Parts: sequence; C-alpha cells; structure tokens
Amino acid sequence: MTLNKVNAGLVVDFGNSATRVLLLLNKRAYRFNLSNRFAMLPTGYDVPLPYQSSEKTAIFNYSGERIANGAIVEREFPQQSDRPSAMHDKTEQLVTSYTVNRLFIRSLRIIAEMTQKQLADLDVDFKVTVLLPPEEQESKGGKMIELIKNVSEVDSVYPTTFKKGYRVGSVSVIPEGLAALFGAIYHETGRADLSAHNEGKLLDNGDVIVRDNADNLQFATVPGNERFHEGYLLVIDVGAGTADFALVLDMELVEGSRATYNVAGNNVTNAVKMKVKSKFKLEPRNMEEAIRTASVLEGDATVHHIEDLVTDAKRSVALRLKQYLVEYLELQGVAPRNIRGMLVAGGGGEPSIREGEVVSPPLSLLLTEYIKELAPNIANVPTGDVPLRELNIEGAYFLHKY
Ligand SMILES: Nc1ncnc2c1ncn2[C@@H]1O[C@H](COP(=O)(O)OP(=O)(O)OP(=O)(O)O)[C@@H](O)[C@H]1O
Ligand SMILES: [Mg+2]
Repeated sequence: MTLNKVNAGLVVDFGNSATRVLLLLNKRAYRFNLSNRFAMLPTGYDVPLPYQSSEKTAIFNYSGERIANGAIVEREFPQQSDRPSAMHDKTEQLVTSYTVNRLFIRSLRIIAEMTQKQLADLDVDFKVTVLLPPEEQESKGGKMIELIKNVSEVDSVYPTTFKKGYRVGSVSVIPEGLAALFGAIYHETGRADLSAHNEGKLLDNGDVIVRDNADNLQFATVPGNERFHEGYLLVIDVGAGTADFALVLDMELVEGSRATYNVAGNNVTNAVKMKVKSKFKLEPRNMEEAIRTASVLEGDATVHHIEDLVTDAKRSVALRLKQYLVEYLELQGVAPRNIRGMLVAGGGGEPSIREGEVVSPPLSLLLTEYIKELAPNIANVPTGDVPLRELNIEGAYFLHKY
C-alpha cells in the first residue's frame, strides 16, 4: 500500500510559561499552546477512566516511562510535576524532550483529522523552526537540532493509542527577541479571517485556532515600519524565565550583542506567591492570573487586591534587569542616541489590568524609562495588533516561511 505523503511545517516557541506552536498544513495554519508541566506516572498507577478519553490530558511512552501532560498533571500531581526552569538551558532539560514528543503527537493527530486519513496511512515530513534564547541559540542550536531529529517516532497512550514514525527534513533554530522584531516589523496581508467559520471548534474543543495559510498571502513590511530597515534597533524580550537583549543593525542581528539573563517574569511570580502566602495564607492555583489582574480570590467571593505586592516585586526584578542593561549598553559600545528604535516584547511588557484599568505597570517600564533617559528620541517599534507574547512565534513563522 502506498502512503499519502504530507509536508507540514512546525514553528515552536518553547516558552518557560507555555509552549506555543504553529502547525502549517496545506492552506491552513493551526495555532495551539501546550502546557509544559509534565509528570512521570508512578509504576503501576492506573490512569483513572475520566483522563483516558479526555482531550485535556495526554499520556505517552518515552524512554520506558509513562509521561503525562495536561489536566491529569494539574489535578492529580500538582506537587510532583516537572516544568521548565531558567536555571538550566532549554536544550538540557528533560521537559524539552517531553515537549518535543507531545508536540509531534498533537500535530500528527491534527494532520490525520484535517486530511481525513488514518495516521497509519500517512507519511509525514516536517520542516521545523524553533526558538531559543539568543545565547543558547549560538552555543547549543546544534544540540536542539539533534534533539528534534532524534525523536522520529512517538508512542501515544491516551486519549488515542498509536505509535507513529515521521521524518524531520530540516530544523532551523532562531533567536527569541530577534524573531519578535520580525513579528512587529512585518506582516502578512490577504489572510482571510476564518474565525467566523470557527473551524477551530472542530479540533480539541476549540483550543486550536485555525488561520488562513493560502498561497496568495503576501509578506510585507507593516506600513510606516520601512524606516526600521536601516540603522540600529534594540530588542528586549522579557519572558517568564529569561530576559533577552539584542541589537539589530539593518535588520540583521549583531552577533556579539546576544545577551540572556535568567531574571524575568517568573521571579515576579515567585516573589508575589511567597508574599501572598504569608500575608493571606493563600496559595493561588493560577499565579499568572493573579499577576495579570493583581488580585487573588479567597473562598467564594472575597477578592484581595495585591497591586502593591505585584508592583514591588516587578520593581525589584526590574532594578536587577536595569543593572544588566546598564552593563549591556556600555559593553556594546553603541551610543544609545544612535539607536533608532526599540522593541519590548514578551509578557514582561504587559501591565496588570483589573476591570479594564491598569493597576500595576509592566515589569519592563523601568527599563524603557532608563533607555528614554539615555536616548530621548528613540522610537518604539509599533506592535500593531499582535499581542506582545505572540510576537516571537509570529516572527518565527515569517522566518520559517519567507
Ligand atoms: N498581562 C500580564 N501582566 C503581567 N504579567 C504578565 C502578563 N501576561 C504575562 N505576564 C508574565 O509574563 C511572563 C510570561 O511571558 P512570556 O509568555 O513572554 O514568557 P515565555 O515566552 O513563556 O518565557 P521565556 O521567553 O522566558 O521562555 C510570565 O511570568 C507572566 O506572569
Ligand atoms: Mg519567550
């Protein structure tokens, strides 16, 4: 029997807060997030029935162990889960290997569903683009390529059981931050809005967003951004685990300007978590939401406002980052006033908002204020309607495709 050949593209942002994925298949692109909390199931553990068939849980075999991801981890093993840590490079962490397995399992299932074929009848060849912090991309980009190419078969247990091999034709590794800049400066025109058809609802309860990826789409500079093609730009990407700095000259990375610091949003989260615990005797389940809204819920309806704690924590993390930025700019030997524009990307650029009002400024504010002191006429590279946390994957998609 001849297999049906399928070429697919995969763009992956292994974020410390979540893994963002864009799967390109025929005339569509499928955008989804994967939780990066995993648990190795204890030997002999019987997976409770509700988790066996739920799309919110995934269990697969990897290196002789049963690995779980999703709802079962959050509900049954909240204390024993593995998650990424900025203390180690992404390429060095088991969680990254788990994520690679998980993402191919998810992608293969989407491919089978969308091509309306049995997985066994498909011969899938992936072209992959992944992001790494700028320093790690330079030192361990090769290792990332190996890591992805080494997994060539996945072994899914729940919610569907299958073993499937596939091929990875090529892997490119690009730096976070630089990708975000591409995501801000360029865009794709002619993309049809598919949200009305809501094709996404067909897939896994709608948590996959289906985008147009037709042949007639045009890659172009966002009008007004042409001026950024020339000269120096400073990119600051404040994520969950790392803050990445880079200088770009004439739209190309200045190789010696890559800098990654392991100080970012997670430090804010952890500091606020401790303070909330001692002040209110509370351990919020969703700390990210607590930071985003600067509030925590106690019991049924008592809401504590915590903007003071949140702002304090952001401030002390921002002060550390500012110190790094001072050293960074001195080291680069580029006069700040020679820099035409700057981009602040990542969740660290988002303020905390409650009931439509900003109650705590973004972590990055001190950094941008400092740069403005040194270079009052520097421009902010506009980010259009792409959310700050999506800029990296958007730019990586452009670099993958064009
Ligand atoms: N609206 C918001 N207000 C305040 N903080 C936010 C907001 N949204 C996200 N964050 C914080 O931003 C961080 C996540 O940012 P982002 O998604 O860019 O990180 P990441 O890409 O997953 O991590 P990394 O790039 O370090 O691997 C988290 O620490 C989160 O608490
Ligand atoms: Mg990031």
